[in-house]
Amino acid sequence: MTGHPPFAPPDAALPGSPARQRLLLLMDHSLDVVEVVSEGGTLQSVSSAVTVLAGYQPDELLGRPFTDFVHADDRERARQALADVLALGRAGPVTLRYRCKNGRYRTVEVTARNFLGDPLLDGILVFTRDLTDLVAAEHALTEANDHLHRLSQELLVAQEAERAHLARELHDDILQALAALRYGMGAFDSTKPGAVPTVLVESWDAQVADVMQRLRRVTRQLRPPAIDHLGLKVAVEEHVTRERMLTKIAIRVAMTDTLGRLPKDLELAAFRIIQEALANALRHAGASVVTVSAMRFEHSLIVTVTDNGVGFAVPAALERSGRSGRIGLQSIYERAALLGGRVSIESGLGKGTTVQVDFPLPTPPPVA
Ligand SMILES: Nc1ncnc2c1ncn2[C@@H]1O[C@H](COP(=O)(O)OP(=O)(O)O)[C@@H](O)[C@H]1O
Ligand SMILES: [Mg+2]
Repeated sequence: MTGHPPFAPPDAALPGSPARQRLLLLMDHSLDVVEVVSEGGTLQSVSSAVTVLAGYQPDELLGRPFTDFVHADDRERARQALADVLALGRAGPVTLRYRCKNGRYRTVEVTARNFLGDPLLDGILVFTRDLTDLVAAEHALTEANDHLHRLSQELLVAQEAERAHLARELHDDILQALAALRYGMGAFDSTKPGAVPTVLVESWDAQVADVMQRLRRVTRQLRPPAIDHLGLKVAVEEHVTRERMLTKIAIRVAMTDTLGRLPKDLELAAFRIIQEALANALRHAGASVVTVSAMRFEHSLIVTVTDNGVGFAVPAALERSGRSGRIGLQSIYERAALLGGRVSIESGLGKGTTVQVDFPLPTPPPVA
């Protein structure tokens, strides 16, 4: 067997100068596995961290090609790294699967430096760091993130369904019952002896009418009927008309005449995004003008809400939103993602804000 014995405290029985022995001892304290490899790729020294990494005693490995411990599919890259270190003096980091004594693999990151000809080391110094737990944690984090993402999208869909259901119940059940009540009161005959005076009946009627109007407002907020029956253009126009009554800020609207009808879920998503971005502009921006637009092109629908207000730091707001329970901006991203839309929010302090979502449109089937 060629090469040096495993790292160990300086020992008169070990070959090498005291300086080399001290160097090997220092390396033996590294948490990374430190190996000295010959020009041909055989292991000459291996630090004791390899026992923690892979279960081997260092001397089990000595004299064997380092590629013996690399996953077959990663060997070519390992050989390339050896070629690199010989040609360029250093190589890596390279991520490889390292075979353990129990036959399993651990994911490691390897870097190498050429010390061939160096009087003290005379070999290639290889550092091997265990990434398995890190890779597993990253994987778990990605999975958890994907899961959360799916959940929040499902929540949006469920919320829309629930709103639509509530709006229908209010409209078809409670509003109808109140209408019937008013109809009944209309037939009231106050000339009969002992009847309630007309003024009282009229005041009850007015109260019921007022409750009905408020219910209609709530119903509309839950789910504007226009979005289902008349499409995005009318729904946006009606929404803006109502908002104008509540604010001094000028709201301009620009929509292609040929917006037409689009897939239902797309119209709803575009409407909700406009609703949220407009509410944000009116509430947070301190703007004098807000412009809402929806433009249909051959392959895309682009909705935009622009204000000339104070602007804000978008990444910081998104970062905060998760913790503060403010989910308006977040919901814009989620709704867009559900339909393959791309969101861009451009904002600078003092420069106003533009929220734009670009939805791909389904390609119509070719005309036969
Ligand atoms: N057009 C805008 N102009 C200025 N600030 C905005 C605008 N839109 C959003 N913001 C900022 O981003 C934050 C997050 O918005 P959002 O997620 O919709 O939550 P919310 O509207 O409930 O506060 C807002 O609180 C506000 O500080
Ligand atoms: Mg908001």
